[in-house]
Amino acid sequence: MRVLSVASEFFPLIKTGGLADVAGAMPGALAAEDVEMRTLLPGYPAVTGQLTRTGAIATFDDLFGGRATLRETAYGSNGTPLLILDAPHLYDRPGNPYLGKDGKDWPDNHLRFAALSWVASRIGLGLIESWRPDIIHGHDWQAGLAPVYLGNADGRPATVITIHNIAFQGIFPAEMLTPLKLPRTSFTMDGLEYYGKISFLKGGLAFADRLTTVSPTYAREICTPAFGMGLDGLLRHRRGVLTGITNGIDDEVWNPETDPAIEKPYGAATLEAKAVNKAALQRRFGLDPAEGALLFCVVSRLTAQKGLDLLLEALPSMLAQGGQLALLGSGEASLQEAFLAAARNHPGRIGVVLGYDERLSHQMQAGADAIIVPSRFEPCGLTQLYGLRYGTLPIVARVGGLADTVIDANQAALLDGVATGFQFAADSASELQTALDRAFELYADRPAWRAVQRRAMGRKVDWSVPAKAYAALYRGAVEERTGSRSEERRVGKECRS
Ligand code: ADP
Ligand code: GLC
Repeated sequence: MRVLSVASEFFPLIKTGGLADVAGAMPGALAAEDVEMRTLLPGYPAVTGQLTRTGAIATFDDLFGGRATLRETAYGSNGTPLLILDAPHLYDRPGNPYLGKDGKDWPDNHLRFAALSWVASRIGLGLIESWRPDIIHGHDWQAGLAPVYLGNADGRPATVITIHNIAFQGIFPAEMLTPLKLPRTSFTMDGLEYYGKISFLKGGLAFADRLTTVSPTYAREICTPAFGMGLDGLLRHRRGVLTGITNGIDDEVWNPETDPAIEKPYGAATLEAKAVNKAALQRRFGLDPAEGALLFCVVSRLTAQKGLDLLLEALPSMLAQGGQLALLGSGEASLQEAFLAAARNHPGRIGVVLGYDERLSHQMQAGADAIIVPSRFEPCGLTQLYGLRYGTLPIVARVGGLADTVIDANQAALLDGVATGFQFAADSASELQTALDRAFELYADRPAWRAVQRRAMGRKVDWSVPAKAYAALYRGAVEERTGSRSEERRVGKECRS
């Protein structure tokens, strides 16, 4: 089975969040299921600069306003096949893939990601003679138009759209319909029209054969007005083809026994070595070198989604109980300033690093005792999964993938020996505070804490289970597509006679 994955991020080439980790890990994970996945990526400088030996396989004289070349390459030690859309007029800009230096969206983002989807659709229809995909699997709004461009073209592949975050929908003025080469017929209420505008994500959700999101709970949540961000009606309508598949993690990249970024490797049997990583983290963040202080960490984008304002409210109680906090993140200015102020007011107790630092994020997972993820909504969430793997107990809001991946250390779960972390009702500072209190209580009983850490580290969070689920989904979609093609032909004949 051949699958073309279409993504705007890919770890380790270009990353702003979890999408990159997922798109980067999927090809290797799916290979074990006999799926040959190639990934189509925009040729940002960060991508082209890291790739050597790319070969041109197609050219476009005018791809939404300029010349473009489709290149292929094999990346990394496993030779992961990549297709790079080299279109300097669209992608040759340094920094963040979506935003200019002023922090605002690039004004031509509609063209940049329509181009990606359009080329994906051409590959789907046989642009690369030797490699015609059975499936096009698009991630998020940036790939949403691929199923729209394919429409019901003869011989088209089956299509899958995965929602990583429904908060980002790619909404642009209706006047863009013609420049984007979109058929007028697609601009309807049950197509990509969204309150008079064009929605890339809605187009994908309306036209794709299969829809997935990154956890079963989020799949249910987005069918409700509270979480669906205006697309819940469409999703309820398409519920029959919507599945939640919980992300895995790349356990070659995230493995405390082999992680080259951390001070001292450790595993479930050598947990005492985690203390060395804790001491290093305390030094890095200017925290008091207290081995017995419960050290919490946060590694996150600082946006309303992540609920870190709730943590600011819970800080006094955390500090009163002797806790420490190390935070790595970047995002909204008001949150950045609030955490910097908290660190200034509590030297030795709160440490903050603003910015994006992949290596430091590993050191935090290795050194902290617990990781706090107080999101208001969370499609899957990866940092709590890394926390499980590193014995850094996750304290999470009970939403989306957080609800699906952490087993709360309530009395029954502790007695049955299944607890792996703490959950609390989302969007409530007092509920978060209660969860922190419960963490302090468990930490006071060190053998009990250790037992939960070991169990967390033993949880299966790799890609083996989700890879099987995706492979089964692809097979089902292809069978239905080829079956329905013959069905369409049959119906066509009957109509003619
Ligand atoms: P989201 O994609 O919504 O940001 P996820 O939890 O799925 O949330 O993924 C976030 C990814 O980005 C994780 O790999 C996390 O470690 C990483 N990350 C987030 N913020 C930072 C940061 N400031 N520095 C380094 N890595 C970060
Ligand atoms: C999005 C979501 C996050 C998810 C990630 C990867 O960025 O916010 O919850 O883990 O995509 O699927």
